[in-house]
Amino acid sequence: MESERPLAAVVLAAGEGTRMRSGLPKVLHSLCGRPMLLWVLDALAALPLERIVVVVGHGAEDVTKLTQELLKTTVPVEFVEQPVRRGTGDAVSTGLSLFADDLDTDDDLLVVPGDTPLLQTATLEALVTAHASSDAAATILTARVANPDGYGRVVRDDRGAVRAVVEHRDADDATLAVDEINTSIYCFRRGLLAPALRRITPENTQGEYYLTDAVSVLRDTGHRVDAVVADDARDALGGNDRAQLAEAETILRARINGSWMRSGVTLVDPATTYIDADVVLEPDCRILPGCMFEGETVIGAGAQIGPDCRFVNTVVAAGAVVQHTVARNAEIGARATVGPYASLRPGTRIGADAHVGTFVELKNAAVGEGTKIPHLSYIGDAEIGPRTNLGAGTITANYDGVAKHRTVIGADVKTGVNTVLRAPVTIGDGAYTAAGAVVTRDVPPGALAKGVPAEIDEGWVERNRG
Ligand code: UD1
Ligand code: CA
Repeated sequence: MESERPLAAVVLAAGEGTRMRSGLPKVLHSLCGRPMLLWVLDALAALPLERIVVVVGHGAEDVTKLTQELLKTTVPVEFVEQPVRRGTGDAVSTGLSLFADDLDTDDDLLVVPGDTPLLQTATLEALVTAHASSDAAATILTARVANPDGYGRVVRDDRGAVRAVVEHRDADDATLAVDEINTSIYCFRRGLLAPALRRITPENTQGEYYLTDAVSVLRDTGHRVDAVVADDARDALGGNDRAQLAEAETILRARINGSWMRSGVTLVDPATTYIDADVVLEPDCRILPGCMFEGETVIGAGAQIGPDCRFVNTVVAAGAVVQHTVARNAEIGARATVGPYASLRPGTRIGADAHVGTFVELKNAAVGEGTKIPHLSYIGDAEIGPRTNLGAGTITANYDGVAKHRTVIGADVKTGVNTVLRAPVTIGDGAYTAAGAVVTRDVPPGALAKGVPAEIDEGWVERNRG
């Protein structure tokens, strides 16, 4: 898209979001793992913008910090604080304070609220293109909706130009019947906007400076205001309360799922598949119902995941098969098989062709290539070589009540069922342990560790329970 005039954007994100009833500022509420404000900034980032100014207020410090951390754009983003929330008009004036006050500038300014997470770049492009090819002082993105309750109504004159935007609370019955609403997304000639904002007053039911009043001021001073109707009204859906947030998230999720399916991934049941914004799925992986992939999770080519897996920041290599498993900050190697019912806690690294089976919990543990931990084990703070087999119920006793200790298990080891490895301890290559062994000392390569040194206290029952 070519904009003929230089373009910048102001994003309004100072409001408290009272309707959210939350300790968290509204724009930091997440959809598909990304805060609402970041979705808006992502949509803007693809436009040829010279700068983006974000107006912050409620929770300014948190909003600024998190946004800076998560931003992906190369467009410079600046933050300015609106100390008192006196309305959308005042918020834009605050944003404009970072721009030179040049009335004869030819620049355009996009104004976008920070609470429209479904806004898409193509919709913004349509607005900017329409505005750039006209000499209107402002172009408003509008939408036709079945239920316009709560929104500002767009009142047009008989030639189709916009005469005014009237807020729901200030509208008469005839205006309330209008189904074309203000999305709060605008493109302004910046040199005309600043003086128009100086002329708006807080004379309305809320006692606020309404940005929408700048429209009638521009009209009254002889300028034209146009409107572009959004192709998809859902682009303007606000995330004002938790119900709207859930509605918007459902739509975003469907967009994400659709785009992965188009890129060659099978989602057996998209309706129960939850893929965060930053997750990567490689071609031909197959996702069974009930999976949630969060954070920076990656699913390798041809892997089969599910049903019912939750992965957070987990990297699964090509061809792995994982079912009914929860994994956080873990890595699963190529062709490894995991589950059903495994818990992979942070620091788990499972090698290629390994098998981690039913009711196995791993934490801070590296499992060698081709190694098997098939049933009922807890392995923590450990390192296991290749081709080893841990018998059912093998447990690392890694915690002595004060500190955690490491267990090192070599290659080609076989442990008997219910072996307890009391850390720190090392099992040499090719060693065996017998069923029920409690291993408290290092086992040399090729040795067998057996037995439990249980003490016998004769006559204890008679002495104590007699
Ligand atoms: C606004 C529009 C309305 C439009 C609707 C679309 C006005 C007066 N009304 O109403 O015509 O139909 O959006 O969703 O503009 N904000 C600040 N500082 C403030 C006040 C608000 O930064 O002092 C920010 C909010 O954080 C929010 C955005 O501006 O991101 C819009 O404010 P909000 O109170 O949600 O306006 P609406 O009542 O939704
Ligand atoms: Ca709103």
